[in-house]
Amino acid sequence: MEMTAWSEYAAAKSRLIGGLRGTVLELGAGRGANFAHLSPNVSWIGLEPHDRTRAALLRTAHDLRRRQVLAAPAERIPLPEASVDGVLSTVVLCSVSDLGAALAEVRRVLRPGGRFVFFEHVAAPPGTWTYRLQRLAAPFSRTFDKGCDPTRDIGTAIRSAGFATVDLDRYIRPGPLQVPFIAGVAHNAADQRRAAR
Ligand SMILES: C[S@@+](CC[C@H](N)C(=O)[O-])C[C@H]1O[C@@H](n2cnc3c(N)ncnc32)[C@H](O)[C@@H]1O
Repeated sequence: MEMTAWSEYAAAKSRLIGGLRGTVLELGAGRGANFAHLSPNVSWIGLEPHDRTRAALLRTAHDLRRRQVLAAPAERIPLPEASVDGVLSTVVLCSVSDLGAALAEVRRVLRPGGRFVFFEHVAAPPGTWTYRLQRLAAPFSRTFDKGCDPTRDIGTAIRSAGFATVDLDRYIRPGPLQVPFIAGVAHNAADQRRAAR
């Protein structure tokens, strides 16, 4: 499996997040760690289901010119279909309770041709030490780290979600745990009706 150097990961964040335009929905926006990468011209909608995190997010989001914060999970996005130009997710899909439902919601709210930008930690290949450690840690992280499941094959789930294109790079975060990450962009079909036939 081909790996991209970890030193490229930060550059990919600036490029892919900074390239989002128009109305951008950010899933699990946390405390606003991605604001530094977003263009000041976007209309930003943050989705954050956790009350305390959302309160902190509301304070940080004051710097954005056009903003809205929604109290909802990615599995039930309270927006009409085809209503946003881009969706952003950074280390969120490990935590959603239903990954398939969340990705279906991303496709639903994205306009035709819209892009989904993601940066996620993922499961190591089965049989590796990292995968064994991820499996051992999973019950604890699910309970104590907002539902985080480190054993998810998020790349395969995104590829199977029905996007017209998916381009992703794989990375290993340096350190003793050698945790794999993916980063990339998926596009909704420009003509959804034709894609659905
Ligand atoms: C590891 S944090 C990442 C925060 C931020 N995206 C960042 O990169 O700093 C995961 C975030 O996902 C949120 N989250 C958990 N379950 C979620 C769900 N079902 N739908 C949307 N967000 C969720 C958590 O509240 C938390 O803010």
